[in-house]
Amino acid sequence: MGQGSGKGKVILFGEHFVVYGLPALAAGIAAETTAKVTRLKTSGWTIDDLRPETPGYKAEKADEQKVSTDNVIRHLGLDLSKQGIHIELGGDLVAASGIGASAANCVALARALNEEFRLGLNNDRINEAAYEGEKGYHGTPSGIDNTASTFGGLIWYVRDPNSTVPMFEKLKLKKPIGLVIASTGLTASTKKVVDDVAAKKKADPKWFDSIVDEYRTLVKDGRESLLRLDLKKVGQLMNRNHELLRSLTVSCPELDSLVEKALKNGALGAKLTGTGRGGLMIALVADQHATNRVAESLQKAGAAAVWKTNFGQ
Ligand code: MEV
Repeated sequence: MGQGSGKGKVILFGEHFVVYGLPALAAGIAAETTAKVTRLKTSGWTIDDLRPETPGYKAEKADEQKVSTDNVIRHLGLDLSKQGIHIELGGDLVAASGIGASAANCVALARALNEEFRLGLNNDRINEAAYEGEKGYHGTPSGIDNTASTFGGLIWYVRDPNSTVPMFEKLKLKKPIGLVIASTGLTASTKKVVDDVAAKKKADPKWFDSIVDEYRTLVKDGRESLLRLDLKKVGQLMNRNHELLRSLTVSCPELDSLVEKALKNGALGAKLTGTGRGGLMIALVADQHATNRVAESLQKAGAAAVWKTNFGQ
């Protein structure tokens, strides 16, 4: 049996902008998806998806997961025509929009196949295989999710449209920073939302460029403020990033209301994270007291799930 795992992630700055070659900051979280691969006597592959989930997520993504699994197997050059495999997915990462569930699935699978078939792949090669898997989930991924899922930690990521090699830098903060994550319980199609943003760009390129210009400065400030541990400033920039995402129409009333709740209850900043139009929001918190207060307020406000975590180490 071969085993592997892939981490969940949150995007602190830059979802959607990263698709257009702008830098983004993502943080791996502790929760992960695991995969176990065993050989079958029959051909092809079968799967038992035992991951915990936001209700409806796995059914909605089942077709994409099939293409993704085929992509990873093909990329790794495995011939399952005589002897197939059974895949079992598990772990403590709740499969939901926004948390990097698809990327964690791809990374865990690539690692389990690597172990079972003794392919000798390093993390860069695992990341490449997971990127091919991500294409099954959403066509033209930027690669930020699979990179964060493979390497974990805090990463500064830039997609080079002319290269298949991801450009990223691992950052380390002097101390971990608290984050509260809340789920709307809604599953979004990354492909659809990314396509909608592309259509808006096409319809009004000047307007899109003005938003991109502001974001370019914002993400640079975000990186510097994080490294200085100037959390007040990081929070302000997260709020502004959320507004920019709203103008791209990737937020929704449920996300906006969770963001507002978190800010009213002591978060230093809050924004949607990941695809948007459902999925998750994140709130930056200064200490344990604020963490508990914000988490409680989000629970009371009807969030489908709330998690407390930290990032930066
Ligand atoms: C999804 O987690 C992040 C997006 O920017 C898509 C991508 O980067 O591929 C929306």
